[in-house]
Amino acid sequence: MYKIVSGTKDILPEDSSLWQKIENISREIFSLYNFQEIRTPVIEDESLFNRSLGKETEIVKKQMFVIRNKDENYVLRPEGTAPIVRSYIENNLDKSARLSKFYYIGPMFRLERPQKGRLRQFHHIGCEAIGSYDSALDVEMISLCDALLKGFSIQGYVIKINSLGCLKDKEKLADAIRKALSDHKDKLCQDCKERFKGNPLRILDCKKDICKDIVKHLNIHDSYLCVECREHFKQVTKGLDSLGIGYEIDFRLVRGLDYYNQTVFEITHSQLGSQDAIGAGGRYNNLVSELGGVKLGAIGFAFGVERVIMALGGIKPAKESNLVYIITLGEKAKQEGIKILHSLRKSGISADMDYEGKSVKGAMRRGSDLKAINCLIIGDNEIDKGVITVKNMSTGEQREVRFCDLIKEIKC
Ligand code: HAM
Repeated sequence: MYKIVSGTKDILPEDSSLWQKIENISREIFSLYNFQEIRTPVIEDESLFNRSLGKETEIVKKQMFVIRNKDENYVLRPEGTAPIVRSYIENNLDKSARLSKFYYIGPMFRLERPQKGRLRQFHHIGCEAIGSYDSALDVEMISLCDALLKGFSIQGYVIKINSLGCLKDKEKLADAIRKALSDHKDKLCQDCKERFKGNPLRILDCKKDICKDIVKHLNIHDSYLCVECREHFKQVTKGLDSLGIGYEIDFRLVRGLDYYNQTVFEITHSQLGSQDAIGAGGRYNNLVSELGGVKLGAIGFAFGVERVIMALGGIKPAKESNLVYIITLGEKAKQEGIKILHSLRKSGISADMDYEGKSVKGAMRRGSDLKAINCLIIGDNEIDKGVITVKNMSTGEQREVRFCDLIKEIKC
């Protein structure tokens, strides 16, 4: 028997209604915030991510699904921000220098060691706003996160925010971390020993207990921020306060991708265990120019849909059904049933019929399992009289309806 690839999941029909609900709520809320959908390919050039996420990041070093074809190297996209910036520049949207607001929903791929909440194929619901440095846009993005979580009916989440400052500030922060860690360097995990030189910010994000313990005691504060970045962050917190959006400032929040600067944020939930981030994002003011476009401010975030579902703790939406289920007795009735099925569907009524040759009792049970609102029973008797027996599945009431009145009766 073939088995599913490790770290991937089938979404079966019993679960897909929850996925659809989450996606529909997201689309509605994105539309309220005037974001438009963008769809980019699942494969991109490997170099796009090397350049944007950073060669030293976990994703680029270890987690990309690479497809080699002669001298071309593609990857299955590990995230959505770099592809959207690529598309934004390639389609000359940067030339207008107007603020563009995109959202996206789709699969991402990372070659990780699978564990609870950590998959090799997972799904992002994310958005990117490209073309503004305004701190009010940071506030809008974080308030959009909050609106989405409320829309999904998730409770008990925490929004953590921080500012990494500009490129110079990030360098100062890296130096401050190296200095603070200099006495503990040898006790860090092997990965963090390597990060110490090239990417010390990432040490603050390490999930290994030994490093978490060391980091917990480090005295890190925001002294690395320049005047401008400090003011920007102050405006962000002020804006969130004025909207009544709760947040925690976490000076240890650094994010794992190189493109971030200034505001970064992460939403965590205690229900999720060690992989506790439902979503995360931040500013990336240098990425558009890094990838060959005009210099423009930008900010975005993405939720992991599987983690949103985990945070919902198994609550599934009640199955809504308007299904009409047709049960026929004998060949003549079956031919009549097929025609009725066709006309019901043409009139916009969701309908299905028994194709398994079940007894009336068995077919009725099937109709009930499918949560049909009505079962239509057609036998020789009904055909002779020119009627159909309609059984209301919630009241059990049964009545005969003339062929010509059927659609009208079912619709009302
Ligand atoms: P990220 O933090 O790598 O950010 O991913 C965002 C979210 O995706 C995480 O908070 C988590 O919920 C989910 N996620 C990440 N990896 C996995 C995995 N292996 N299995 C299941 N869920 C996962 C980004 O990707 C950025 N592009 C977000 C962003 C958009 N920043 C600016 N714009």
